[in-house]
Order: sequence, then structure tokens, then C-alpha cells
Amino acid sequence: MKKLLVSLMVVSALFAEATKEEQLAKKIALEASMQYQKDLQNAMEKVLYSKGPAAAIQFCSKHAYPITMRTTLKLRRKLGVKLKLKRISFKYRDSADAPNVLNVEPLKELQRQDPRHPQVVMRVYPNRIDVYEPIYVQKVCLKCHGSNLSGEVKKALSKYYENDKARGYHVGDFRGAVVVTIERRSLQKLIKKQSQTDTNAQ
Ligand code: HEC
Repeated sequence: MKKLLVSLMVVSALFAEATKEEQLAKKIALEASMQYQKDLQNAMEKVLYSKGPAAAIQFCSKHAYPITMRTTLKLRRKLGVKLKLKRISFKYRDSADAPNVLNVEPLKELQRQDPRHPQVVMRVYPNRIDVYEPIYVQKVCLKCHGSNLSGEVKKALSKYYENDKARGYHVGDFRGAVVVTIERRSLQKLIKKQSQTDTNAQ
């Protein structure tokens, strides 16, 4: 009986830790995803408004990945955990953004959601937590992802993307997701550090 009680306590303690981890993962992922989308959009818009859509497409084809890497490093330092960032979509432009087997179900879950009340979707694995945040189409996106693309845009797209599926969208459509992957060991370390600072402060 005692043994059972002890193991129950251990299990519930582990469970409490897991939820603490999940809460922190969600908070970190929301901040990371916001920053990531902001960095990409700012860089893209700078070229779009100074040099036009064709130059912006060329810019994205070259710089989307380096920007992802730069933002990843910046956020690792700022947030104090090991994380990775990527964008995925069922209707992708860059085949590197196609969902993998593990991404398919969470992406479907996001797709079924009411866009007025978007929620993140989480998957907890032994070593990492994946947090999925939905991306929706805004007006500015239509220049390159809409259904009425200019000749110049079509030409630029066909130059860089052979199998572009990311067209024909409307404002408010579900576009895909940002996936923030956080290593659990680094999360656990951060939780420990935070609770130590809390105790010291008392
Ligand atoms: C100037 C043209 C342009 C505009 C405007 C634009 N995009 Fe894109 N988008 C691209 C290109 C080019 C890629 C492929 C980048 C790459 O090669 O990684 C892309 C890729 C993406 C991806 C990654 C998935 C995929 O299809 O490969 C998402 C998500 C995305 N765009 C969302 C948006 C959203 C949301 C907006 C509006 C806020 C937007 N885009 C505006 C050109 C554009």
C-alpha cells in the first residue's frame, strides 16, 4: 500500500513537472513564433516596398533560411532554451516546408480550428516538445500567395519554385504553421534556475 502511495506520488510529481514544462514551452513558443514571423515579414516588406514583388520573391528564396537561422540563435540566447524554428504548410511553395509524418496530424488539428479563437497544438516527446502555431493569410500576403497574381510575380515564382502550391489564398485562410521545437532538458534546467531565483528572492 505504502509502495503504491509512493509511486502514485512520484507519478503525480512527474505529471506536475510535465505540465509546468508544457506551460513554459507554450509561453516560450508564442514569443519565439511572434518574433520569427516579425523578422521574416519585416525583411520581406522592406524589399517589397522598395524594389517590388519580383525582387522580394528573389530575396525570400535566398534569405528565408538564413533569417530562420539568425532568429533561432537570437531567441536561444534571449529565452535561454535550445529551440528550433520552421514553417510548414500543406500547400507549400518551398518543398523544404512540406510537413513531415509527425507534422501532419497537428497541422490538421490547426486547420480544423476556428480562426477567431486560434490555439496552439502541442506534442510532447521524451526529449522535446513541439509547439504548433497557426498562420493565417493577411492582405499583404495576397501579392505573392493570392489568386490574382501579376505577370511579374508569376514569372518570378516560376523561376525559383517549380512546384509551387502556395497560391490561390484569400484573406483569413489557414496558411500553415510555425513549429517551435524545444529541447526538454534545457526547459527543465530553466525551470530549476527560475525556481532557485524565486527561493533566493524570498
Ligand atoms: C514578396 C512575395 C511574398 C509575400 C508578400 C509573402 N510571401 Fe510567403 N513566401 C514567399 C516565398 C518566395 C516563399 C518561399 C520561401 C522559401 O523559399 O523558403 C514563401 C513562403 C511562405 C511560407 C512557408 C511555407 C511555404 O509555402 O513554403 C509561409 C507560411 C508564408 N510564405 C506565409 C506568408 C504570409 C502569412 C504572408 C503575409 C504576411 C506572406 N507569406 C507574404 C513569398 C511571399
